[in-house]
Amino acid sequence: MSFEELKERQRIAWGAAPFEKIEGSIAVMHDDLVGRLAPQPGERWLDVGCGTGAVSMRAARAGAEVTGVDLSEVMVETASRRAREEGLAISYATGDAEELPCPDASFDVVSSSVAAMFAPDQAAAARELARAGRPAGRLGLTAWRPGSGVARTMQVAARFQPPPPEGVGNPFAWGTEEHVSALLGESFELEFHEGDAPQTGESGEALWEYFLSGVGPTRLLYDSLDPERREEYRRASVELYEQDRRGDEIYQSRPYLLTLGRRK
Ligand SMILES: C[S@@+](CC[C@H](N)C(=O)[O-])C[C@H]1O[C@@H](n2cnc3c(N)ncnc32)[C@H](O)[C@@H]1O
Repeated sequence: MSFEELKERQRIAWGAAPFEKIEGSIAVMHDDLVGRLAPQPGERWLDVGCGTGAVSMRAARAGAEVTGVDLSEVMVETASRRAREEGLAISYATGDAEELPCPDASFDVVSSSVAAMFAPDQAAAARELARAGRPAGRLGLTAWRPGSGVARTMQVAARFQPPPPEGVGNPFAWGTEEHVSALLGESFELEFHEGDAPQTGESGEALWEYFLSGVGPTRLLYDSLDPERREEYRRASVELYEQDRRGDEIYQSRPYLLTLGRRK
């Protein structure tokens, strides 16, 4: 499988379930990211991997002129509909973090919330984040930490998937200061913050059902397996969530790294 084939799979996978159903589970991260970037009226703002619009809509409510780009046309359609319903004039388009559809230095702010981290060619994504921002412009990224609940969930999923192409970057490396500094340190003055977007639920089973209902890659993988493997995948995921049981609820910690940058 080539990087392009992997991205084609990712494009289809992210559109395979209504992400807006579970978007609220990371609202604390969206608030943290947009709050720290402090949108100003009239600023040109690009949100990369905009999903169903959480970050772009927050920035637009504060008066920024926002563009949202995502690999998945299903995400773009949902984000457009939601922005329209709220009367927000946001421009959405399909596009790849590794090849952003914009001229050089065309944005005052570039953001990406747990999205650019999934681009297989991490050097290309980093180059594009730098290219899109104007000199002295701001950058804000979030990425799950290695070992976070989401990273562990994806390790379980990986047992049921074909291996990724050779040379694909580990998405969770974007959750470490060292890796982000190596990728972006030449183009940006960087500053790091740690946050947590914990997930709670009444049981492992309830959390499995919740994420299956809204995380496209989980839904698509589950649907692609034969009945026996499906059951194995379900059971392994429920067991993972149950490891985080605290009394009568599940409390899964989901730490993330928030990177702020100032374009040199
Ligand atoms: C976990 S969702 C996050 C969505 C949104 N940023 C949020 O925080 O609610 C990851 C998003 O990244 C998008 N994505 C993955 N790879 C991408 C790429 N190479 N270029 C653009 N978007 C990408 C997916 O389609 C999906 O919408």
